[in-house]
Amino acid sequence: RPRIFSGMQPTSDSLHLGNYLGALTQWVALQDSYDAVYCVVDLHALTVAPDPAVLRERTRRTAAQYLAAGVDPARSILFVQSHVAEHAELAWLLSCQTGFGEASRMTQFKDKSTRFGQEGTTVGLFTYPVLMAADILLYDTALVPVGEDQRQHLELTRDLAQRLNTRFGKGTAVVPDPHIVKATAKIYDLQDPTAKMSKSAASPNGIIELLDDPKVVAKRIRSAVTDAEREIRYDPEAKPGIANLLTIFAALTGRDVLAIEADYQGKGYGDLKKDLADVVVEFLTPFQERVHTYLADPAALDDVLADGAERARGIARGMLDRVHDRMGLLPQR
Ligand code: TYM
Repeated sequence: RPRIFSGMQPTSDSLHLGNYLGALTQWVALQDSYDAVYCVVDLHALTVAPDPAVLRERTRRTAAQYLAAGVDPARSILFVQSHVAEHAELAWLLSCQTGFGEASRMTQFKDKSTRFGQEGTTVGLFTYPVLMAADILLYDTALVPVGEDQRQHLELTRDLAQRLNTRFGKGTAVVPDPHIVKATAKIYDLQDPTAKMSKSAASPNGIIELLDDPKVVAKRIRSAVTDAEREIRYDPEAKPGIANLLTIFAALTGRDVLAIEADYQGKGYGDLKKDLADVVVEFLTPFQERVHTYLADPAALDDVLADGAERARGIARGMLDRVHDRMGLLPQR
């Protein structure tokens, strides 16, 4: 079966609805037809200088949220990036194949380095996409389920894979395809529906965190920014706020946006928001219970992660040995 790989950064206590709808639901859906490898990318999280105790806690919390969403360790590999040293190793080998200018063109790097300034921007932030390429190429990955904001990083990963094949021979790396589901690839901020929902949003009121108090979540949905019209219609250009609410509604209920739109003819924005708040709370309540059950037994969680790391290492080592050999690194005896 073809392989899929994806990961999320443990940079927050809770994933948000963008992470869930843009990526995590795809991960769960794809694990039946693919050989799936899902990672908590803690090395990537180091680029934002987290407090050590907080990082450790968030790494477990992120893994617990994968499990609660339906990632099944019996079918998929679930592990923590730093447990498999091959990620950092391949990242070095790839950094020697990456152009400085090429890495400088990454828009996420440009945005973040502008925000952090010259002294606050680390070399790690610059090479972040190279580590991400290593994550993916290490598993001979065919498909990478992510949201729209990762598209450029995926392009770089593909370029690097092709470059390895040109320089070191066909079959050195598998060239991965992004799997970006258009309907949910970009969930927007509730307070600013032209910006993506993001952990670094200006106001917490625009974000729905999966572990937020359901009452707070309901309130945030009811106060979502919309527009001055009254008609409920899916029109992302003219009505980004309403379109975003309809997108979330459709994704969480598995229904078609147009069918929901039809249901609300003649009704007001308040009706849509109230019903959506109910839908979200109904999803979050059992989700949060599952997360807390996993977190209540950290030893069992760590066992799942240890088992995942061992299985991941087995795959990663084979790829890395192949690259060592082709690059001319002397084999160890
Ligand atoms: P991260 O941790 O920022 O986000 C995790 C996933 O959530 C998606 N996402 C969204 N999707 C829809 N709407 C949104 N508003 C939204 N916000 C975030 C992201 O696209 C992502 O799929 N660089 C990656 C982590 C990473 C990775 C990898 C991913 C490291 N190595 C290898 C795939 C493969 C990141 O920062 O994701």
